[in-house]
Order: sequence, then C-alpha cells, then structure tokens
Amino acid sequence: MIQKPRGTRDFLPDEMEARRSIEAKMREAARRFGYREVCTPEFEDLELFTLRSGEGIMQEMYVFLDKGGRNLALRPEITAAVIRMYINEARVAPKPLRWCYFADCFRYERPQKGRYRQFWQFGAELIGADTAMADAEVIILATETLNATGVTWDLKVGHLGFMKNLLAGLEPAAQRRVMAHLDKKDFEGLTVTLADIGKADLGESLTALVACRTLPEAFEIAGTIPEKERVEQMTGTLDDAGIAYSLNFGIARGLDYYTGMVFEGFAHNLGAENQIVGGGAYRLAHLFGGDDVASAGFAIGFDRVMVSLGEVAPAKDTVVGIVCTDEGRSFALAVARMFRAAGIRAEMDLMGRGLGAQLAHASRSADFAAVIGKREAEAGQVTLKNLHSGEQTTLDPVAAIAEVKAYGAR
Ligand code: HAM
Repeated sequence: MIQKPRGTRDFLPDEMEARRSIEAKMREAARRFGYREVCTPEFEDLELFTLRSGEGIMQEMYVFLDKGGRNLALRPEITAAVIRMYINEARVAPKPLRWCYFADCFRYERPQKGRYRQFWQFGAELIGADTAMADAEVIILATETLNATGVTWDLKVGHLGFMKNLLAGLEPAAQRRVMAHLDKKDFEGLTVTLADIGKADLGESLTALVACRTLPEAFEIAGTIPEKERVEQMTGTLDDAGIAYSLNFGIARGLDYYTGMVFEGFAHNLGAENQIVGGGAYRLAHLFGGDDVASAGFAIGFDRVMVSLGEVAPAKDTVVGIVCTDEGRSFALAVARMFRAAGIRAEMDLMGRGLGAQLAHASRSADFAAVIGKREAEAGQVTLKNLHSGEQTTLDPVAAIAEVKAYGAR
C-alpha cells in the first residue's frame, strides 16, 4: 500500500470542515483591516529564498532541477514570494499595500506534532509604510486574527535595534551566528561563539538584554538606539489599542531579513512546537531588483492553531436525502435542483436502491428525506420526513424548502 510522504497529512471531510471554519474567521479578521488576499506560485526560483531567508531555512528547503535545468524550490515561506510579486506586478500601486494570504509551505524538518513538512500559513504583509503605526498595525492585526480563532496565547514584542547596537562592531557573518544562538536560546553555544570571535565580554550584556522586560532597562543595557522614538511610539500605540504583550529583546527570528520590530506568539497548550505566529519589519524588495521599500508582516502557523484548538465542531450542514421511485425520478431531479438553488445540501441515490433502502440510507446520512413517488410527482409535491422526529407532511417544494430552512435556523 502506498503511503503519504513523511511529514504530510491527509484531511478527511470532518477535519477539512473544521479547518475551513477557522480559516474563515482569520480571513474575516484580515478583511476588516483592509488586507486583500494574494496568491503566489508553490515553487519559485531557488535564489528568491537563498538571498536573505537565512541558513536555517536554506537547509530545510525542497530544491529540484526542472526539465529545463532551472533551480527551483518549493516555497518554505511566503514573504519573499509576496515581495517578488510586488516588484513584478504592483510597484507603482498606491502605498501602503495591505495583502494577506493563506497558503501551504514546505520545509524539510523532522516531523512531530505541530511540525510538518507541508504546513499552512495565514499571513499578512504591509508594504510601503515605514512608521511606528505600521509596525503596530501588523501586531494588532496578528493579535485580532489569532484571537478570532479562539486560541489562547502570549505575545512577545521586541526590536532588533538593541541587539544590533550591541553587536555593531561584529562582521555580518559573526552577527548572524550570535543571533542564531539567541534565536534558539542556546546560551552555551553563544558563549562558545563569543569566545571564538574574541568577544566574550559581550556575553553579560546580551544575557541581560534577553532577560530585560522594559524599554528603559533595554536602553540602559544596549545604549540609545537610532529607532528609540519609533519603538516608544509603537509600544505606546499597542498600549492605546489595548493589546496584551510583554517586551522581549531576545527575539532574533530565524529568518535573516528583519530590520527592526519583531514579534512572536506562543500558544498556551502546545508543547515544544508552541510558536504560533512570527513576524516583524523587514526589507527585501531591493534584493530582488526593486526599490528599497519598507515592509512588515507576520505568518500564523495554521496547523498549530488547529492542534491548539483540539476538536473543533464546525456548524453542521442540514442534509436532505432525495428519495424517489423510478416514476418520480424526473420530478425528483427538479426538486433536488430547487433545494440546491436555495443553498441546501441535497443528495440523490446513485446506487439503484429501492425506496426502503434509500430511506434507510437517508436516516443514517441526512436530517430530512424528501420522498417522491408516482403520486407526489403527479401532484407536484414532496413528502418531507424529518428523520430525527419521524414527523412527515406532504407539501409543495417551496414549502418543503422553507421547512428545512426553518430547521437549520433553530
Ligand atoms: P516563521 O516564524 O518561519 O516566519 O513561520 C511562521 C509560523 O509558521 C511559525 O510561527 C509557525 O507557527 C509556523 N511554522 C513554521 N514551520 C512550521 C512547520 N514545519 N510546521 C508547522 N508550522 C510551522 C515566516 O515564515 C515569516 N515569513 C513570517 C513573516 C511574514 N515575517 C514577515 N512577514
């Protein structure tokens, strides 16, 4: 028996309905902020992701040569693709651009609960606004979107300016090594690397920065950063908006393109893989041949949202089983069409079953049976049976539709 590839999942209808119901809540939250959906290809030129996405992601990428000898990669994330699309298609559009996406990503990681090789992100990118308000809007949107799902989680907000100020004297490669340790909270590795690059003295201030939880303390440890006013305005806006968060200047993010504000969210009830959202302000457009436009965004790990929510019972459709004899079939087809046109799920027999067997099947799979025999067909009526209560009445299709709708609205 052929199995699905490692790290991928199949979703049966119940699970898909649960996923779609939560997805709809996230889309609605983004719509209310004016973020409009975009879609990019599942695979891109490899270079799009190697330019700035960072070591971690490069090692996890699905890379292949196509028949024309092109180096391609399945997208490990969507941000780089969205910025490529912005440069290709929309660079002259009025700013800011508010875009969102719901898309699958591929990373060759060691699979476990909440970590998959194919997973879905719900994300947003705000392109062309370089202000404290823009930073705050992205965090507020991420908060509202995640809250709309019902997940309980904690938000941590930071700014790379502090860490970068402390690491200012280091080569970019050394900076990246140090930040990778901080991102993984790997303090042992940090000590080794700092000793290796002759900067052991930085250990104390970096550790203090990671532990500190207030802006004044952070300025004391890292010095006054050029973005001081912006950070203060951004946190002030988050406070005004009533957002619950804690400050954390140890957030380094695993991707290399962030430039300033960064944030991460952690679900309360997940284990090791509890990071449920990540984002920040970044610059990528100039690397892809565009103008140096400022952007900010985030991506929510949709599969982790679903794991955190556990069993989700989506609203169930009311189902009508159309039960008919051979003489009634032609009218039954018309009645099924009417139910469907009214938005009601109507299912007809495809198995050549007799009336009794059709009714027995409907009682297992439907809420109502609309029975149409010779008598009903001639009278232009249906016998509508409520399969839960057993009540039945013969009425015209319009009245039958009203009856089923009234049941669904209860
Ligand atoms: P990221 O932190 O790499 O950021 O991924 C965002 C979220 O995707 C994570 O917080 C996590 O919930 C989920 N995720 C990542 N890997 C997996 C996996 N293997 N299985 C399940 N879920 C996973 C980004 O991707 C950035 N593009 C976010 C961003 C948008 N920054 C600016 N704009």
